[in-house]
Amino acid sequence: MKNSINIIVVAIMMISIVSCKKDTKPNYQYMPNMYAPVGYETYGQYGVFPGGQEAMLPVEGSIPRGWMPYDYKNSTEGYQLAKDSLKNAIRYTKENEEAGKALYDIYCAICHGGKGDGKGTLVQREKILGVPSYDDIGRAITEGSIYHVMYYGINSMGSYASQTSEHERWQIVQYVQKLKADLEGKTPRIDSDVVAAKVEETPHQATEENHDNAH
Ligand code: HEC
Repeated sequence: MKNSINIIVVAIMMISIVSCKKDTKPNYQYMPNMYAPVGYETYGQYGVFPGGQEAMLPVEGSIPRGWMPYDYKNSTEGYQLAKDSLKNAIRYTKENEEAGKALYDIYCAICHGGKGDGKGTLVQREKILGVPSYDDIGRAITEGSIYHVMYYGINSMGSYASQTSEHERWQIVQYVQKLKADLEGKTPRIDSDVVAAKVEETPHQATEENHDNAH
């Protein structure tokens, strides 16, 4: 008898607890700090911020990390200025040339051709017209002008500023200049450490000779 009363009491307690749960409302939160962050939520709405939005635009003039502003304007004057005065910031090494070739083959060769003669696949299939050869005398491209057109694009050629970093664009410039030199039958520019390397080599060779003489 006592047992069955106990069972009934427990059953009533359980039913009353379960019946308080409503699926249409969020459950009661014990220790709400465990769920809701103390800090502001990204994109959350709070009265303290201008416009009520946590997410705000960067201050005017902000520059993303690793990004360098480009001073030349997207105009005929800007183009001419870059053509005359803008110089490649990187050293012309074999490594940079190879990196430039890899990027060139991805982004440029489809129109300009692997040799830079303006006969890429899209030109051969007549999908695009007016792609010049890099040795076009009338254009007389320079390192500055190559960089400039990659940055802003020119007529039917688009900009490559968002796909490539500044460093990568300069590597492509080196490679385009190499293609131009090849087309013109000239020797491409390479800034080597030949002089420094020779100086290092000389004492090494000398000791070897001394060694040979000793035998
Ligand atoms: C969709 C085809 C296409 C692609 C891809 C392309 N170009 Fe061009 N490019 C053109 C056309 C078309 C012109 C001629 C534009 C004009 O002056 O009317 C041109 C012109 C140029 C010129 C000469 C501009 C001048 O100063 O007269 C250079 C240099 C050049 N491109 C470099 C590149 C490089 C580097 C890439 C890769 C990052 C590239 N192009 C990708 C179509 C393309």
